[in-house]
Amino acid sequence: MGLPRLHVNVDHVATVRQARRIDAPDPVAWALAAEAAGAHGITCHLRKDRRHIQDEDVVRLRAAIGTILNLELSLAPDMLAIGLESGAEEICLVPENRQEITTEGGLDVLAERARLEEALPRFRERGMAVSLFVDPERAPIAAAAELGADFVELHTGAWANAPEARRADELERLRQAAEHAHALGLRVNAGHGLTSENVTPLARLPWLEELNIGHALVARALFLGVEGAVGEMLRRIEDDSR
Ligand code: PXP
Repeated sequence: MGLPRLHVNVDHVATVRQARRIDAPDPVAWALAAEAAGAHGITCHLRKDRRHIQDEDVVRLRAAIGTILNLELSLAPDMLAIGLESGAEEICLVPENRQEITTEGGLDVLAERARLEEALPRFRERGMAVSLFVDPERAPIAAAAELGADFVELHTGAWANAPEARRADELERLRQAAEHAHALGLRVNAGHGLTSENVTPLARLPWLEELNIGHALVARALFLGVEGAVGEMLRRIEDDSR
């Protein structure tokens, strides 16, 4: 398998817009600029509290972008209903906790089994691929495979935030999780806390198809512009010689 593709998460463009509740900056225009710079897909997370992406953004993104839309949602019934009507090619199911600053951990696939059993076939009937955001551990990956998920997205946050002494172990944990998921017939994505500084070794893990990267790209684009930030990330995914 070749290098993973870059899916650009546009949530924090909407965060800046919502700081003023006006119409700029527009995450849809930013997504189009990211695509023009080489992004292979666009991701957004419609949160229950609508702190960044709004319902209308999802509709506008799907209508405007030329690549794949990956819509992140919690398992709340109203969010699943929006997902079913969204036309997104990929639905990534994530845990959501109102107090958190960002998605903190992977989905508890075992505890959520009943809701997932009900939800997954409804997306798949519509030809939408379902991804479950999981910690790089055996149990949620095995449960995702049993439920018939298409993808798992491995939570890379623990590795990204690990002190130097733990980084090699955390990367090995991700490698084993990717191997385990692939052996069970799952496709594998990864994301959370990835930056142009840390992405190169992560992108070398086996079986990865899509990297979902948001905050670091939006932050970097303030200095380099969208084209500069996306171009830099693509080069760091491709080039391990630095
Ligand atoms: N993947 C998932 C499932 C997420 O919830 C998030 C954060 O919204 C990301 C990837 C992107 O994380 P970051 O903004 O740290 O790049």
